[in-house]
Amino acid sequence: MTPTLNLTINGVPQQIALDDPRATLLDVLRERIGLTGTKKGCDRGQCGACTVLIDGRRMNSCLALALSHDGAEITTIEGLARGETLHPVQAAFIAHDGFQCGYCTPGQIMSAVGLIAEGEAGLDPERVREGMSGNLCRCAAYAGITEAVLEATREIAAGTGERETA
Ligand code: FES
Ligand code: FES
Repeated sequence: MTPTLNLTINGVPQQIALDDPRATLLDVLRERIGLTGTKKGCDRGQCGACTVLIDGRRMNSCLALALSHDGAEITTIEGLARGETLHPVQAAFIAHDGFQCGYCTPGQIMSAVGLIAEGEAGLDPERVREGMSGNLCRCAAYAGITEAVLEATREIAAGTGERETA
């Protein structure tokens, strides 16, 4: 029997018939739902390009068995902006030139949104760098990314906070 997966993706409930019960969440998002903003880099948990939020926590979707997250709320890079209004993390990445290649930037941004929501790094650059260390960037935009995360942290703290995870 073909298992059915129920996910709420960027606020929209979806029912997905899974031909392959071993499908990863990354493949379901890209190939079944058509949300190709989440990238497949290494496909083995080493680069962070596939980072999404699962129930508000950041996770490498290439390592996540889709069926084991039945009923979960998923946020992808496509779910961050509100119409023309960018999420504070997206805006900060642009302002600080952290918005680089299209391949790893979505994962970097999703990881930053998750890190800020965790509240562990605060405004400490070292802890931001450590918290983002699972996301690789070959073009060395790390300095801009760290600045962007710090600025977004300040902005979210000063605002209502309602945009922290979605
Ligand atoms: S594609 Fe998932 S960590 Fe690299
Ligand atoms: S953002 Fe993609 S290599 Fe740096």
